[in-house]
Parts: sequence; structure tokens; C-alpha cells
Amino acid sequence: MKRKTSNFLDLIKAQRGRKKEKKFSGTLLEYLGLVKEDPKIVKLAHKRLYDIIVEQGVTVLDHTNERCRKLFEYDKIQTFDYFQKEFFGMENVILKTMNFLQSAAFRGEESRQVLLLLGPVGAGKSALTEHIKRALEMADPYYHLKGDPLRGEPLQLIPRSLRHEFEELLGVKIEGDISPIVRYRLINELEGKYEDYEVVETTFSQRARRGIAVVPPMDANSQDVSVLIGSEDISKLDKYSEDDPRVLSLNGAFNVGNRGIVEFVEVFKNEIDFLHTIITATQEKRVPSPGKNDMIYFDGVIIAHCNEAEWNKFQSEHTNEAILDRIVKIDVPYVLELNQEIKIYEKQLNRSDFDAHIAPHTLKIASMFSVLSRLKPTEKCDILTKMKIYNGESVIEKGRVKKIDIKDLREENRFEGMSGISTRFIMKAIDRSLSASDKGIITPISVLDSLTVQVKEQIINEDNRTRYLELLQKVIREEFLSILESEIAKAFIAAYSEQAQSLFDSYLDHAEAYTTKSRIRDQVTKEEMEPDESFLRAIEEQIGITGSSRDGFRSDVTAYMFAKMRHGDKIDYTSYGPLKEAIEYYLISSVKDIARIVTKSKTRDDEQKQKYSDMVRTMINEYGYNELSAEEVLTFAANNLWRDS
Ligand SMILES: Nc1ncnc2c1ncn2[C@@H]1O[C@H](COP(=O)(O)OP(=O)(O)OP(=O)(O)O)[C@@H](O)[C@H]1O
Ligand SMILES: [Mg+2]
Repeated sequence: MKRKTSNFLDLIKAQRGRKKEKKFSGTLLEYLGLVKEDPKIVKLAHKRLYDIIVEQGVTVLDHTNERCRKLFEYDKIQTFDYFQKEFFGMENVILKTMNFLQSAAFRGEESRQVLLLLGPVGAGKSALTEHIKRALEMADPYYHLKGDPLRGEPLQLIPRSLRHEFEELLGVKIEGDISPIVRYRLINELEGKYEDYEVVETTFSQRARRGIAVVPPMDANSQDVSVLIGSEDISKLDKYSEDDPRVLSLNGAFNVGNRGIVEFVEVFKNEIDFLHTIITATQEKRVPSPGKNDMIYFDGVIIAHCNEAEWNKFQSEHTNEAILDRIVKIDVPYVLELNQEIKIYEKQLNRSDFDAHIAPHTLKIASMFSVLSRLKPTEKCDILTKMKIYNGESVIEKGRVKKIDIKDLREENRFEGMSGISTRFIMKAIDRSLSASDKGIITPISVLDSLTVQVKEQIINEDNRTRYLELLQKVIREEFLSILESEIAKAFIAAYSEQAQSLFDSYLDHAEAYTTKSRIRDQVTKEEMEPDESFLRAIEEQIGITGSSRDGFRSDVTAYMFAKMRHGDKIDYTSYGPLKEAIEYYLISSVKDIARIVTKSKTRDDEQKQKYSDMVRTMINEYGYNELSAEEVLTFAANNLWRDS
């Protein structure tokens, strides 16, 4: 026991020691030496933030990346490693945000603008802002004048008349003015000898209100501009005169967030008067001082976020033009890419104490619902196909990869993703289905159930409600059944891939012979024979290829495979999507036994029992089910599939 406590004390002391050892404390003169050595310690807020994020790594995705090739609007896209593990399918939003910071870092007009993240509930606006603020907390220390509530850049002590020379000497730019508190001390305590002013080192901290300030939305009554700019300390007013800086409590958001970030949460929920300070803060980089003092310098990144309804309301009033003109708006839509949406829930579940068994496809099915709810219908294809195209999948119809250009689909609806089911709705349904389970498992079936209950309880708009229920009860349910059907069949056919491969080999032989109008030689008997067209047809009709489209399909397949072989690529039954699908369906439909074994559980004979338990074992060992979830989906399949076989 004793030993353990002293271990803790060692840790604490060691950490404290490390901290002290490094911290700088000296006069402005000494600080000048520090800057001369490393001019990079002097930075304006936007540049500091931009640099920290970029230092974590930038990865350029180009045509070698599948998502970039298929899904992004540009040939190349920069992604920022700092966001990689936290945010999914938001590359465009992050890129726009970083472009804003970059221009601002170069002192472009953006450095005098508010960054506004606009999007529907649960789209990740707050999470993104949090993550950006956290970047500052990881930053190297920065320096400020001791006792300065604004923690201003020490170089601001250099008088205007000397700045040019100092800038040359140090290789940095000097911007802004000292705070009234510093000015008072300089005159009254240091007799103007600014080189003696103490400089200290500090770090950003949201909790300690150093360089990071958050302004929550406030109702009209509690809204007081002192939240933004600080106030006069009334208790000091009988000691000092009203214009004495010593009465100032400079603890408003623009004071605290100086040199870092000021965040406005749900910004337009506030009364407009409250926001007027934003105008001077951006345009002049100064905010009013409480009382009768001169304006106070401010250098910081202003990030605001809000939902569309409030934005529309705000925008429609022309008296708000002055603020509107100072806003750079970035849309934060919901994710429309299924695989990325799934990752959001994986992330959230990994972070929670959730330790239930999650059956395969559960998060996919839940994500399908949110993504589908966000998509606008199109004439070009059904909604499920649209979802797959947005997910970069090749959709096969009548044996060919469906050629619908993702760009055309996107063009049709510029505002897609700004409405629909939110990430929180899905998380709640996942939680709900867990608490409803007495077995500690969640499955696609239980999630579909709880989503349905939740839609009935919470979606009031009649049209949406009908549409969502149809998605759940028809579109997604059917898609799930078809996923389940082929999965069960795969689990059932032990030598699935060998069988598929041999079907593939014969298909290719026969199709080639058919296309080149030649004969085929039997491998065993060496006998020559005509290509077996009925076999070819049996495979093709699995994916709806009939009549005149057969010839085209056969020559497509043959040409494709031979082109691959010429390039030295290995080919197997998965090489060509449509053919793979046809072969799988063929296999599945030829195994009629599956139905009998899965469904007629009471009348299984010994051999069937053996097959059933083999199948369950494959589902558990290879697909990630457990006993209970395998049982649940098999029962569901038995009740809903193979009805008429
Ligand atoms: N694309 C995404 N990648 C990763 N996580 C996401 C994504 N979209 C949403 N989330 C997660 O969803 C949750 C809700 O997001 P958040 O609270 O940031 O939404 P919001 O846009 O601020 O919504 P509101 O308008 O309701 O405040 C967060 O835990 C966030 O991490
Ligand atoms: Mg939020």
C-alpha cells in the first residue's frame, strides 16, 4: 500500500518538475532574444491554428484512391491527418475549413471574417469545432505579458515608431496594441521602460479560459454584452475612478479568446444586438471596452455554428447585412456515403461502455436508414441504387454495370444531405434495441424494430413518417433479406468458392467458344463438342440477361477476362462483378436443400442436423455471429425467405 502511494507521488513530482523546467519567464528584452532565435513563435491566431493542424500531416488522395476516383468532385483532394480518425465522409467540409484558415493565415480577407458552419442537427458541427479547439490545446506554448488578461503578444509593447526596425531585425510582423491594463502598469509602475516588462509562457486551455472562449446561446433576458467584452468591477468603483483601467474585468469571450478561438454556439439563437461586437471584432480587429476606455485589440479565429432554420430567418432580415457580409459560410451536410456513415457509429460505440454483441450488418442496416432518409428521389434509378452509387458500388442491372454518373445525380439536388434522419436518432435506436434485448445482443432485426418504433413515436410530419416507414419496412427489409439469403447460402455451401470457381471456368470456356464460333474440347474425354448454350443461359438469367442481350454479355465477359490476362492479372470468379453475382445466384438457387434445412427445423434428419450445425459454425467462426445472433437471424430468414420453395 505504502509503496503504491509513493509511486503516485513520484509521478506527480516528476510531471511538475518537467513543467517548471521548461517554462520561460523573463523580460521583454530576453523575449526579444527568444524571437530572434526562433521567429516562428510570433504568429497571429489563424496562422497558429492552421500550422498546428497541418503539422499533424497532410495526405493527398488522387486517382490511386478508390474513393477519390469514384466519389470526389476533384481529381485530387487534400485530407488532413488530424481529422482522419474522428470524422468520416466530411473531407469536403474539412477542406473548405482548412482553405479558410489558410487564406486567413496569409492575412487575406478571411482573417477578418467569421467562419460559420451551417447544417442540420447531428451533422458534426459541434464535434468538428471541438476538435479544432483541441488542436490549440496541443500547440506549443505561446508568450504573453505577465498579468495581462488579454494575454497579448509581448511585441505589442514596441512603440509604433520603432516597429519597422524591430520587424526587420526580428523577421516578424508586429500587429496590435497592448491592453489598457498593461498600459497602466507600464506608465505607473515601470515608468515606461517597456524592455523590463515581464513576459511569461503559457498554453491554450478551454477549461482554464486561456485563449479559447465559448459563447453559448442566451435568451434575451440574460444576454449581456459583458459576456463578450467583460465588465467594470463595481466593487472597485469606489476605489478608482471610472476611467481607471484597474476597474476593468476583461473576462469576456473576446478577451479570453484573444490569440486563439472564440466559438459561438447556435449563434443566431441570440438577439442581433448581442452580436454587433462581431462586426468590429472582424473588421477592425478591435472590440469595445467596458466603461470609457478605448477599443481593445482582438486577434482570434471566430467560429460559429447553427442550423438552417435560424440561418434563413437571420438572412431574410436586411438589417443583418453588415454581419452577413462578414461571414464565410460552410455547409455541413449529413454523410451520404454508406460506408462512412457506418464508421460514425463504430466510432461512437467504441467510445462508449457498450459491450454488447453486435451482429454482422447491424450498423450497416441502421446506416442505410439514415442515408436513405437523406436522399432525394431521382428519375434515373431507385433510391437503393442511388445509395449504392453514392457509396461507390457498381450496381448491376441486366448484367451490366449500371452507368449512372454520380455527378449527374448530385447536380439534380444541390441541397441533398441538409435534411433527413440525424446521427443521434440512429444512436438512440441502437441504445434502445440494446436495452430491449434480454440477451445482450443487437441484430439488424432488433435495430429495424427499434427504428420503426422510434419513427412512429418521434416523426410528426406525416409525409416523412410514411416515407421512413416504407424505407424500413420495405426497402431496407428486402435488402437485408437478400444480404441474408446469400450469406446463409455461402455459409451452407462449404466449398462455396471452389464450386463457384469451377462454374466460372466452364462458363468462360463455353462463352469463349460461343463468341468465337468454335468448338470446345472436353478436358477428360478430349472429345470436341458445341458450346452448351443452355448452361450459359442458366447462369445469365440469374441476373436477368435474356434475349438479344446475351451475345453482348458473353463477348463483354470474354473480352474483359482476356484483357486482364494479357496484363498478367490473375482472374477468378470474382473478377467481373456481374458474372460473380450470376454465379452466386446460380449456386444458391441450385441448393434447394438450404431452405429445407433452415426452415423445417423439427423434421431434420441426422445428416441435416449436421449440416445445420456446420452452417451455424461457419456463421460464428467466419462471419462474426454468436450463438444467439445466428439463431435470431436464421429464424428470421426461415420465416421470410424461401417461402414458395
Ligand atoms: N461525419 C461524421 N464523422 C464522425 N462523427 C460524426 C459525423 N457526423 C456526426 N458525427 C457524430 O455525431 C454526433 C453529433 O454531432 P454534433 O453534436 O457535432 O452535431 P451538430 O452538428 O453540432 O448538431 P446540433 O445542430 O444538434 O448541435 C457527434 O458525436 C459526432 O461526433
Ligand atoms: Mg451542436
